[in-house]
Formats: sequence, structure tokens, C-alpha cells
Amino acid sequence: MLSNSDISKAMTVGLEDILDELPQPPQFEEGIRRAPKRKFTLTQKETETALKNALRYIPEKWHAQLAPEFLEELFNRGRIYGYRFRPAGRIKGLPVDEYRGHCIEGRAFQVMIDNNLDFEIALYPYELVTYGETGQVCQNWMQYRLIKKYLEVMTRDQTLVVESGHPLGLFVSHPHAPRAIITNSLMVGAFDDQQNWHRAMALGVANYGQMTAGGWMYIGPQGIVHGTYSTILNAGRLELNIPADKDLAGHLFVSSGLGGMSGAQGKAVEIAGGVGLIAEVDQSRIQTRYDQGWVSEIFDSPEKVFAHAKKCQENRESKAIAFYGNIVDLIDYAVKNNIRIDLLSDQTSCHAAYDGGYCPQGLTFEQRTQLLKTNPAEFRQSVDRSLKRHFELIRRLVARGTYFFDYGNSFLKAVYDAGIPEICKNGKDPMDGFIFPSYVEDIMGPLLFDYGYGPFRWVCLSGKYEDLFKTDRAAMDCIDPNQRFQDRDNYVWIQDADKNKLVVGTQARILYQDALGRMNIALKFNEMVRSGDIGPVMLGRDHHDTGGTDSPFRETANIKDGSNIMADMAVQCFAGNAARGMSLVALHNGGGVGIGKAINGGFGLVLDGSERVDSVIRQAIPWDVMGGVARRAWARNENSIETGIKYNQMRKGTDHITLPYLADEKMVADLVSDAYGKSVEPVEPV
Ligand SMILES: NC(=O)c1ccc[n+]([C@@H]2O[C@H](COP(=O)([O-])OP(=O)(O)OC[C@H]3O[C@@H](n4cnc5c(N)ncnc54)[C@H](O)[C@@H]3O)[C@@H](O)[C@H]2O)c1
Repeated sequence: MLSNSDISKAMTVGLEDILDELPQPPQFEEGIRRAPKRKFTLTQKETETALKNALRYIPEKWHAQLAPEFLEELFNRGRIYGYRFRPAGRIKGLPVDEYRGHCIEGRAFQVMIDNNLDFEIALYPYELVTYGETGQVCQNWMQYRLIKKYLEVMTRDQTLVVESGHPLGLFVSHPHAPRAIITNSLMVGAFDDQQNWHRAMALGVANYGQMTAGGWMYIGPQGIVHGTYSTILNAGRLELNIPADKDLAGHLFVSSGLGGMSGAQGKAVEIAGGVGLIAEVDQSRIQTRYDQGWVSEIFDSPEKVFAHAKKCQENRESKAIAFYGNIVDLIDYAVKNNIRIDLLSDQTSCHAAYDGGYCPQGLTFEQRTQLLKTNPAEFRQSVDRSLKRHFELIRRLVARGTYFFDYGNSFLKAVYDAGIPEICKNGKDPMDGFIFPSYVEDIMGPLLFDYGYGPFRWVCLSGKYEDLFKTDRAAMDCIDPNQRFQDRDNYVWIQDADKNKLVVGTQARILYQDALGRMNIALKFNEMVRSGDIGPVMLGRDHHDTGGTDSPFRETANIKDGSNIMADMAVQCFAGNAARGMSLVALHNGGGVGIGKAINGGFGLVLDGSERVDSVIRQAIPWDVMGGVARRAWARNENSIETGIKYNQMRKGTDHITLPYLADEKMVADLVSDAYGKSVEPVEPV
């Protein structure tokens, strides 16, 4: 029979050394947001398993003391976070030189992990939730400590394997292999549903990576400001007849949410020249955005806030305004008082509506937290009632000329789940899509992703502002603003990025670029690192992109050949990035839409100035994007076919994309209609 002493002797990386003495019980700083209690559904036997699972990280001598503490966390919070193991005080992404490690990648990942847990950045930092209500770096603080220990000892001949937050171990590889391979919540098909996932989370065997939370690439809300800027600006061009070289001056955008991602909305509208009015029920989140300068005014009366917005519109002033209250109350007022809203959306965490992501009308934020804890069934009913009202109001505004779009938060699906089949095109289920568009279907998909434009980003690991400033200028020099209108928008973005004060946390930048744009900028940065002009840089992207994510209600919402329910692209993207030597590759289940609804992957690449990294950039960066463009072209997306044709010409002899022959629509429709003996309405696949 094996003893714990044999096990302890067999491990050189573990928590033993820091556990000569247990860390002090946790202290929670006032005013820092805490995750709501997650629903507790484990049976007695499963509770035993959850407890044994958490104790796997802990030397036996502490089991008797920690077991009751862990059990209490499980009962009171719905999860075992191991709060006691959180390093005391504030966590921040420090300059890379301040971390221990045998290779730059190991130290760089520690910067990224700590940045994801910064109080300024993370939604619920004590529960390791970076954003999106449930998106975590890893499951608990024991894992956090152990991951860091592995990163400190990892060499360039090893790869760290992280499975749903758990560091499985270091395994021999080679300098051209990824240093970290991360997977999160990849569930076996038959069990790939919310209920099993919930159970697995409570058991301590699943971690919800969301996108850049579990992929360690979150850079604060700036990461989403650029995409939001492009989306809202292009929504205006599409629906309000704004020319391609003009902005949103004089127009009103209304939405909700000033959280992790949603917090970008006000700032994005302001950069796009319009007036953004954003409802938020949680005062602390309004305060965070206000302190950052991402909203400049706060109102709690719908009457006053609409009057003020109108004045700003008339003066063509760009402005980000917060409304402290429920979005449903805000638009209720607009409907009753016949107020014109040009563009309307919603960015509450509807992908987790019943877990607290959507605050029902009639409840304050605090009441919502309480009800969720004491009576989840009643909370659920309130959510359903509120979504119903929300939907009715949107319908009325749309009838008056407002353009409403789903903002990738599963709002339309949540309305359907609330028992409202009228939200579906076919009036019964989402198989044929919804009556309102998703922003990817109409805007991001055709105008950006199909060309390969996506959320390229970088972090200056030195932590120096000067490095970020230099990289901004260098990136700007790589863009030709006259190539396409997207390039002009990107050029304007990076030109003003410093002035717009977008940095929260580490010195990071986002810049939408296409495949070759990303490659050229990456090569330029690596050259700057080589020459000593700047310190090392971590490159990456979020998953809200051309090729890394299969998500039929979001990133792949404009794939219409039926393949939007397949996850081949995301998995190939992940595998291809690993094969080509990205420093970190990550693959998750769920993304921003919920478990079972997406497979999404990301990467990180540490620029150390070496020629090896030049070659990784040349191979991996175009692959990461063009794999997605190729698949979109194969789905007959016109802009991707155009991009694929050009790519095949430019990359003759190296890359080659299979392009689709296009069948004559009428010939096919006539033939099928003859075969069926009657004419049939073509139904677009989901
Ligand atoms: N648009 C995108 O590009 C994009 C990208 C990633 C994620 N998302 C999705 O957007 C959603 C929001 O993400 P997040 O990171 O901001 O989540 P979050 O949970 O940090 O923020 C949502 C905010 O909405 C507020 N809220 C909830 N119900 C409300 C109501 N009825 N009225 C007013 N405010 C309300 C909450 O208090 C919270 O602050 C998620 O579903 C996420 O998956 C969108």
C-alpha cells in the first residue's frame, strides 16, 4: 500500500516547501467584488469526492485542519477555491525580470497569469474569475501556486500540461515545441452539457476558461474596445447610412453592462464619435469605469440621462454615459416617451443568465445576489419574466427604426430559453436562427473575420510605458491606411491608442489586423527586441477571431454551409499552432456563450528577439488566421474567397488554399424543387 510519504518523496515540485507552515486564513479586502455562491448540487458521495480531490494538492499533515475549511467553502461558495493559498495582498503582472524561471516563456506566463488576477482587471479576483462571470485562470489557489512553481523550474526542453486548471506535470519536449499546452472543460460529447459541467466544476475537475481567462491572455477591457469600436462604427455605416469615411457623430447607442468585456462599450462609442448610454446595475463596476475615465458621467434617472444624451447628440459631442439601473427600466422609459435610439444592444452575461449573469428587472444588484443564494428557482423565474419584458420592448423599438443586434452574449438564446419561441425565425426553435441579427452575422463576420481581420494583441513584458509607445508607432508604420477601409479604421485606432488611455494592468495593446499584417508587425517587434530597442514582448489574440473559434451563435454565425456545428476549425487551429511552435496554446469548451456551445482556442508567443522566433512568426501567425479564412472560403463566404484567391497568388509555392466552385443557385433550386415535386423555401442552416 502506497503511503503519502512515498508520494511526497517522489515529487520535487509540489506545495510541500511552502507548507512548512500553513498560510494565514484569508483576509478579504472591502469593496472587492466576490463571485456569487455557485449552485450546490453534489450528492453526499460526490461531496466526499470533491473534498478528496482538493486535498490532493495538500500534504497529509494538514488534511485534518483543511478538510473542514474546504467543506465550508464548498457549502458556502459552491466551489473549493482554497482561499487560504491565495498570496496575501494585491496580485499584479510585474515586469518579467521580477519573476523566477529558467526560460523567458516560464517567466512571461507568470506575468500574464498575475495580470489576469489583478484587482483592477479581474471580475472576482478572490475566486480567480477574470471576466464573463465564470471565466477562470484555474480552479483554485493551490493550482495557481503549483502552476507558478512549474513555470519557475521549466526549461526550454519541457512542456507544461494544464488540464482544466490542473498542472498535470512537465514533460520532455524540445525548444520549438510549446512551453505550455492548456485545455479547459473539454467534455466527452454525451456529457457535454450545463448540468454535468456544473457538477464537474464543483467536483474540482473542470475549469471554465471562457477565452483569454483560462488561456492567460486577457489584457483588460481594452482587449474588447477595438472590436466594439469596429462593430458599432460599422453597424452605423450599415444601418444609419453613415459613409465609410465618417463616424457616429450625433448618433445614440444604448446597451447594458460595464463589466469585464461590456465595460468597453462606452469608451468604444466615444472613440467612434457617438454618444454611448450604458445601463449597469452594479455600482462598483460603474465606479471602476468612471475611475478609469471610460465613462465620464453617471445618472440614475432615465429622464435625466436621455435628456443629457440628446444634448450631446445635438452638439455632436462624443460621450460615454453610465445609467445606474436596469437596462429594462431604461428602454421602458424610451418606449413610453418615444425616444429615438439609433443602435441598441445588450451585453449582460446572458450566457450565464441563471447563474447571476442577468439581473432581472425589479431587483437591485444586491437583491439579485441574495435571491440567487436563497432561492435559485425564484431567481430563474424572475430572469424569465424580465427577459420577456426586455424582448417586448426591443420589438417595439425595432418597429420604430432602432437597429438591434445580439452582442455575442447569447441574449437571443437566453430569451428563447426563457420560453419565448417568437424570438426564433421559425417561431419554434433556434434551428433556423433568430429574428434579430447577431453582430457577427451582419458585421464582424463579413466585414472583418472573413478577410482575416482579428484581435491581434501584445504585452510589453518589461512593464515599461516607453516600450508600448514604441511598439504602437512601429505597428502604425506597418499599416497602409489606403488599402481598405478596415485598414484606415485600424490606423486611426493605433494612432490614437496612446491618447485614448486604454491600458489597465500590464502595458498591453490590441490592434485588429489581417494575417500578413499580424505577421509583419510581429517580425518588426521581434527585430526591435533583437536590437535591444525594447524588452521582450508576448503576442497573442483573443478567441473572438477568424480561425480559432467554432461558435455557431457567435464567431461562426455567418457560416452557412451547415458546418457551423462542427469544431474542426478550432481544433485544427490549436493543433497547427502547437506544431508550428507557438509558446502557449489553449483550447476551451464554451467560450463566451456557454458550455457545449463553442470550442475555442488561443495562443501566446514570446518574442525574445531570436531567429527561431522569426521562423515561428512566419509559419504560425499566417496559419492561425488563414486556416480560418480557408474554412470560411470553403463555406462560400464571398470576402473569404476573395482573400483566399489573393493569398494563393501571394504565397505561391508555400501555402495553398482549396477554393470552392460556386453552383448556380437557380439551377440547384430548380433541380431540387423538381425532385421534391414542389417548390420549397430555402432554409438556411443554423
Ligand atoms: N461582444 C464581445 O465581443 C464579447 C466578447 C466576449 C464576451 N462577450 C459576452 O458579453 C457578455 C458580458 O461579458 P462581461 O465580461 O462584460 O461580463 P460581466 O459579467 O463582467 O459584465 C456584465 C455586466 O452586466 C451587468 N448586468 C447584468 N444584468 C443587467 C441588467 N439587467 N441591467 C444592467 N446591467 C446588468 C452586470 O452587473 C455586469 O456588470 C458575456 O456573455 C460575454 O460572453 C461579448
